[in-house]
Amino acid sequence: MKSYNITTLDDFIIKRQKDYPTAKGEFSRILHHIGTAAKMVSNKINRAGLADILGAAGEINIQGESQQKLDIYADEVFIGSLLSSGECCGVATEENQNIISFTHEFAIDGKYIVCIDPLDGSSNIDVNVSVGTIFSIYHRISPKGKEPVSKAFLQSGTEQVAAGYIIYGSSTMMVYTTGKGVNGFTLDPSLGEFCLSHPELVMPDDGTIYSINEGNYIKFPEGVKRYIKYCQERDVSTNRPYNSRYIGSLVSDFHRNLLKGGIFLYPESETYPEGKLRLVYECNPIAFIAEQAGGKASDGTRRIMEIEPESLHQRIPYYVGPVKMVEKIEEFIRNK
Ligand code: AHG
Ligand code: MN
Ligand code: MN
Repeated sequence: MKSYNITTLDDFIIKRQKDYPTAKGEFSRILHHIGTAAKMVSNKINRAGLADILGAAGEINIQGESQQKLDIYADEVFIGSLLSSGECCGVATEENQNIISFTHEFAIDGKYIVCIDPLDGSSNIDVNVSVGTIFSIYHRISPKGKEPVSKAFLQSGTEQVAAGYIIYGSSTMMVYTTGKGVNGFTLDPSLGEFCLSHPELVMPDDGTIYSINEGNYIKFPEGVKRYIKYCQERDVSTNRPYNSRYIGSLVSDFHRNLLKGGIFLYPESETYPEGKLRLVYECNPIAFIAEQAGGKASDGTRRIMEIEPESLHQRIPYYVGPVKMVEKIEEFIRNK
């Protein structure tokens, strides 16, 4: 008989709960609520060309970047959903200068805090290109009954309890890890459910794609410039020249590279002397997924997940992908 068996995200979370003897379901509820928020945002993004939600909202966020209406919508939906989970006592998001404490009676005892980039690559939204959401979950640190402390949001990436992203692409997918491998779920719009579609994702240990905003070549450090030339050189033994692929949305670029084998690079430059991507809610969660899939993430010299964040919106140079490719760029940076 034909098997019509599907594993939904909620089934999967419940099955996996037994891997965590101390977990009493709180954590599962947070993931479930993130999934619900993702469905709401996905729905809105699919209708973006029809509803009055395209374009800039007229506000500048705390990074000095113009906020898109969908940035604000996604921010509100994820914050609201995490609050209503009752298991999360505070969040930090790209769109808010400071942490947001949940002081409501049903949430103040929540065991976890969440760091989130509600909409990643949002400048792509007006042109129908894939965007994403990135999230990272940590323990709260401060005693229950008290508001969360800023320190909880500045834990190094090695302390992450879980991390994931949602990609709103030709289909919507959620990919996450709790430190026991990486699994991907595709949203079936007819069922309204995320269904396990990419179990035990593994990144190839080498690759043939490089993803970087090459228009900024002139502004990059010497080692990076030389690495780009290396990618473009002919050498059949290492499958070079590599393919260049760059969407301009970390989630989408990383997702492709995870499946196909490729490195994503966002170095420091004249425009962004510290790098552009944010350590806490962009680099760390993606680094956790990369490592769990057998890859590597670095700032050029250090393991991303071991860096102690100094501030919530700290930026950092970022290199993520297959181990061999990341080690190669590190070599170029060392020998500049
Ligand atoms: P966000 O939309 O959350 O501000 O992030 C945009 C980021 C990231 O997704 C992407 O990799 C990078 O900006 C692209 O930057 P450039 O346009 O400078 O290439
Ligand atoms: Mn982003
Ligand atoms: Mn964003």
